Amino acid sequence: MEKRLILTGFMGVGKSSVARRIAQRLSWNSLDLDELIASRQGRSIAGIFESEGEEAFRRMETEALGEALKRDRVVIATGGGILLREVNRELLRNEIVVNLGASFKELERRVKNSRTERPLAKGPAVEFRNRFEERKPLYDAIERQVDTEGKLPGEIAEEIITRFLGEEMEKPG
Ligand code: S3P
Repeated sequence: MEKRLILTGFMGVGKSSVARRIAQRLSWNSLDLDELIASRQGRSIAGIFESEGEEAFRRMETEALGEALKRDRVVIATGGGILLREVNRELLRNEIVVNLGASFKELERRVKNSRTERPLAKGPAVEFRNRFEERKPLYDAIERQVDTEGKLPGEIAEEIITRFLGEEMEKPG
């Protein structure tokens, strides 16, 4: 089996920091899809949304996901919208995907306090809430779920390793 783990979840849930923690613990690499897209494009995610729009970003995201899934010994932090496209869900079908969840209140708080520029969190609060509600069924459909509420990234990382990665995965090589 490939040594690869994919984290999904709404904006602000902590996918990137948890991915880094898990990777550190297992001596794997962590890979942030947004960072991969931004570095390939030589622009920030906000810049891509501004100049080319969301649809173009979604195509880049699918391409980046395909590229990331060729790697081994990697923990991949996806962007919050990765489950929107059927093609992405199909790419993830046989992968170990773990969805991180938190209450809307907590996510709103984290996004507000974060330095990351998120084009889809800039509008009115109600838009953000609607987006959360609309996507909820997509996140809920993921088999492996972790509630992150009140937990530190290191604790979430440990929980994921214990619950979802067999001993095989923790072995070197
Ligand atoms: C998005 C989430 C962002 C980023 C882009 C779109 C979304 O990633 O991919 O701004 O549609 O939810 P994070 O989940 O890391 O904020």
